[in-house]
Amino acid sequence: MAVIFYLSGTGNSLYAAKTMAKELEGCRLEGITSYLKAPYEVQDEVVGIVCPVYCMALPPVVEVFLQQVKMVPQYIFTVVTMGAMSGQALGQAKELLEQRELRLAYGVTLALPDNSIVFPSPKVRQEKLLNQAPAELGLIVRNIKNRHDNYNHLSRSFLWQYGGTAIGWWVLNSIKQVGQLSCDAAKCVGCGICATVCPAGNITLDEGKPVFGSACVHCFGCAHWCPQSAISLGSLTPDAKTRYTHPEVKPIDLEAQKERKDEA
Ligand SMILES: Cc1cc2nc3c(=O)[nH]c(=O)nc-3n(C[C@H](O)[C@H](O)[C@H](O)COP(=O)(O)O)c2cc1C
Repeated sequence: MAVIFYLSGTGNSLYAAKTMAKELEGCRLEGITSYLKAPYEVQDEVVGIVCPVYCMALPPVVEVFLQQVKMVPQYIFTVVTMGAMSGQALGQAKELLEQRELRLAYGVTLALPDNSIVFPSPKVRQEKLLNQAPAELGLIVRNIKNRHDNYNHLSRSFLWQYGGTAIGWWVLNSIKQVGQLSCDAAKCVGCGICATVCPAGNITLDEGKPVFGSACVHCFGCAHWCPQSAISLGSLTPDAKTRYTHPEVKPIDLEAQKERKDEA
C-alpha cells in the first residue's frame, strides 16, 4: 500500500501527485491539511510527500506535517514542485524526518510554472515545463518503483537555511504584505471558487463574498483561481501576465485535499 500526501494551491503539485499515484500500485492521495486536522497512524509501506517550494524551502505547513505525521514506512520519497530554485527544501525534509528517526530515501525536484506572482514564468517557459513534466514524472515513478535511493545527496547549505529563505519570507510578508488577503467587492461575482480551492479551509463565504480567516498557508491559490482577479495578497494581485493555474487541474479537484480519504 502506498499514499502520497500533497499540498497544492494552483494545481502543479496535485498534477504531479495524481500522475504518480496512477502509476504506483494501490496508491491513494491524501491532503496534508486534511491529515493535520485529523491525524491518524499511517499504515502504508510507501509514503510520498508532494508539495511546492516556498521561498526556497518547504511550505511551513509541510514542515509541521513532517514533524507530526505518524508513520513507519519502508520507503519515503519527496517531490517538490518549483518554478526554478528549490533551495533547501529537500535537505530540510530529510532533516525533519531524521529528527524523528525516519529516512527520506528519495528526494527530487520537478520544475513547473512559477505561481509566486513576483517571479512569473514567461509563457514560453511555461509551455516547455508543462510539456517536459510527463517524461520527468515517468522517470521519477520508475525510480520510486526501483526504490531508488539518493539520501546521501540530500543536504541543505547554511546559505539557504539562514539567507535565502528568511529574506524571501521577509520580502513577501513585510514588503508585499501577502498575509493581508482582501477581495475587491466591486469585482467579486460570488462564485466561491476561492473557498473551494483553499487547502486550509481558510475562506468562508458571507452572502457570496469571501471572508478570510487566520490559517492561510500562502499557496496563492485563491488569487490565481479567482476568475475576476478580485483577490489580492497584500500588494500582489495576479494579472494577465502573472496569473497561473495548472491546465489539467480544476478548482473542484483541489477541494479533495481538504477531505480525509483514509478509512482506517
Ligand atoms: C509563497 C510562494 C513562494 C515561492 N517560492 C518559490 C521559490 O523559492 N522557488 C521556486 O522555484 N518557486 C517558488 N514558488 C513557486 C512554486 O513553488 C511553484 O509554482 C509550485 O509548483 C506551485 O505549486 P502548486 O501549483 O501545487 O501550488 C513559490 C510560490 C509561492 C506561492
